[in-house]
Amino acid sequence: MRFEVTELPEEGRSTEAVLEDLAAAKSDDRDWRGGRVFSLVYSAGDEVHELHAKALGLYSAENGLNVLAFPSIGRLSHDLVGWTSALLGGDETGATGYLTSGGTESLLQAVKVARDAGRARGIERPKVIAARSAHAAFTKAAELFDVDLVRVGVDDGFRVDLAEVAAAIDDSTIMLVGSAPTYPHGVIDPITELGSLALAHDLLLHVDSCLGGLLLPWLVEAGHVSTPYDLRVPGVTSISADLHKYGYASKGVSVVLYNDAALARHQLFVTTDWMGGFYASTVMAGTRPAGPVAAAWATMQHLGRSGYRRLAEETWAAARRLIDGVSAIDGLRVLGDPDMTVLAIAADDGGTLDVFAVADRLAELGGWYLDRQTDPDALHLTVHAGSAAAVDPFLVDLAAVVSTIGDERSANRSAPYATDR
Ligand SMILES: Cc1ncc(COP(=O)(O)O)c(C=O)c1O
Repeated sequence: MRFEVTELPEEGRSTEAVLEDLAAAKSDDRDWRGGRVFSLVYSAGDEVHELHAKALGLYSAENGLNVLAFPSIGRLSHDLVGWTSALLGGDETGATGYLTSGGTESLLQAVKVARDAGRARGIERPKVIAARSAHAAFTKAAELFDVDLVRVGVDDGFRVDLAEVAAAIDDSTIMLVGSAPTYPHGVIDPITELGSLALAHDLLLHVDSCLGGLLLPWLVEAGHVSTPYDLRVPGVTSISADLHKYGYASKGVSVVLYNDAALARHQLFVTTDWMGGFYASTVMAGTRPAGPVAAAWATMQHLGRSGYRRLAEETWAAARRLIDGVSAIDGLRVLGDPDMTVLAIAADDGGTLDVFAVADRLAELGGWYLDRQTDPDALHLTVHAGSAAAVDPFLVDLAAVVSTIGDERSANRSAPYATDR
């Protein structure tokens, strides 16, 4: 931070002064605008970010908790859920769903719904089976909702090991999980086979398409991807898709959809058990921001189908250049065979190169930011429209660093996500 504010002032300060301080505070943050941050931010360009700011501003005070007071928020939410559902096969299956605050909350909701469905079947502590590549939010959900999460292994291609899933199923199991794609390696789990297992054992199957849900439909349409992953796959009971990732919406919007309305009902919380009157909600929060809903709606209308198709094509091409370019650098490999535009870079099998030291040097050299993964040590890259143009300069810097890094070791084995005080 380039300024020191240590106390809440007695007298308020001018709007100009506080905004100046905020601008100064941001100066130490990663500069994502040039596309050098390969995770955390998704960008479809400055015009879309300006649209976000205006839409967020229009709804900065409204409260998304109450759509009777603010019916427009209900209508915008309804559109967002409907458009996402149509992209993921929900029109054909008659899916229903809700907006949530993000991928984590969509997964929390899916697990909470499964827990309640399990309890309705008489299973007091239901079990959910997910690969070790499935998102950390499943572990968070299991802790929050008293569910047993069984993590199973992945195969050589980093996709869930179906034999391990089958072996883990028992009388307490309520739900299987597949990712489309996984965050760590960008591969799509075999959803069709998971669906068959789910049907054979009368289980729920959640597809975590938080990362891919707004991109895969366009890649499938263009013929780049053919693996089935959505609500149309027999056995899939729910799916999550984040608008604030490849939907290029402002942060705070995801969709969770259920093929069965009775299942979806478990997400609805209703009570009159207090003195404040009838209270209903479908999300974790009570009062919730309406700005992200408005910004997501504006973004999807602004980009339209043709905009998403164009961005998907650019991103796909950039990701293939990146995969080929990394594979051509001596000492490095891409893990598995990424199905989408997300990948992990590791040292060659048996190689001694420390990829975390490579990340340190890349940060110094060009301000590149890459998340660090383990088992095996790898660097994460999500290619989005805003980072597509940075792929070629990245490959130049990467090759230069790898050719001179030698035995250098990094002291930093993880990039901490949550940093409070
Ligand atoms: C596959 C997958 N699922 C869930 C999430 C969680 O999403 P969020 O960070 O929006 O809570 C992510 C985030 O990257 C993800 O990649």
